[in-house]
Amino acid sequence: MKALVLAGGTGTRLRPFSHTMPKQLIPVANKPVLVHILEDIRAQGISEVGIVVGGHAADMAETLGDGSALGLRITYLHQDAPRGLAHCVVVARDFLGDADFVMYLGDNMLPQGIAPVVDDFRAGGAPAQLAVQSVADPRAFGVAELGEGRRVRRVVEKPVRPVSDLALIGVYVFSPQVHDAVAAITPSARGELEITDAVQWLITQGHEVRASCYEGYWRDMGTVDDVLECNRELLRSLTTSVQGRVDGASLLVGPVEIGEGSSVTNSRITGPVSIGRGVVIKDSCVGPDTTVGDHCTLSGAGVSYSIVLEAASISDVEDLHGSVIGRAAQIASAGVSGRHHRLMVGDHASVHMLTSR
Ligand code: DAU
Repeated sequence: MKALVLAGGTGTRLRPFSHTMPKQLIPVANKPVLVHILEDIRAQGISEVGIVVGGHAADMAETLGDGSALGLRITYLHQDAPRGLAHCVVVARDFLGDADFVMYLGDNMLPQGIAPVVDDFRAGGAPAQLAVQSVADPRAFGVAELGEGRRVRRVVEKPVRPVSDLALIGVYVFSPQVHDAVAAITPSARGELEITDAVQWLITQGHEVRASCYEGYWRDMGTVDDVLECNRELLRSLTTSVQGRVDGASLLVGPVEIGEGSSVTNSRITGPVSIGRGVVIKDSCVGPDTTVGDHCTLSGAGVSYSIVLEAASISDVEDLHGSVIGRAAQIASAGVSGRHHRLMVGDHASVHMLTSR
């Protein structure tokens, strides 16, 4: 079995981050989304992975290389424009050959792993197995209608009036029959080759398509709030590990991870908090539900429920909450305090906060 990870697309809803960093590389619990996904794929005993890339191909290759560090062989497959999920299967035709494969959307997180879906495919013998989960508002997703024995009767992409509350959650397992399906369909009203149309084609041709009702945690990294929520969820399983220096005037409460070469001085860290390597924290309150990337500097800072990316600095801003601070961004203030501030700051930005009188 092979894997196909879809990491093209534009990610416009995650601006400003997606201007400089593709959403699939945003760190959640201090590890890029794609690394979480690739580790999950490896855990299924799969080592051949094709990654569909668009404009951010160089960033992907720089972060993931040839995959050997993760025990994988990665082939990058270039897609000229985001022409749809089924178009990605067309782009990957030669790479996939006649193998069964897992198709994993590169912005979907299933931290408890996809084993139940892959096991269902292997046990069931259907040419397509779809992971689904019940959601409050299915209109933003592909939606599946099930019949007896979790057989899929119908799939519809982002329906205005959904026929069920079962969303497709970004993991599909296909046999090579899907190649006939993607070749048979035409672009949808929004101009994309939809994987839901390919699945519907299989159903209409009389092939069996089955659903796996996924019971673990799942989130689509569509918005900054999704990224923060998923970060919080992953930090729940953090265990304390302190490799940096913490002085006697500092207090660590709850699970806190501090990487090599980091120092914490006169500060309170309320876990769960993950702090990377080479980070300097002084006179600050960090956490809970916060990650701080490598080589950041926090001085006189108060940060909770936030993600601070690599090499960012925050000084004298005491009430940051629900924020994402881009790589090497600089946040400083002249005595702003007393209420929560929510910031979404892209890479290399410089923000100086002033109090108006
Ligand atoms: O998140 C689950 C949903 O994902 C499913 O319920 C929908 O049925 C499915 O169509 C998809 O909907 P989205 O609108 O969320 O898809 P998005 O455009 O965000 O693309 C998903 C991933 O695939 C993302 O990592 C970008 C990548 N992609 C997307 C397109 C359209 C590509 O690599 N190439 C593409 O052409």
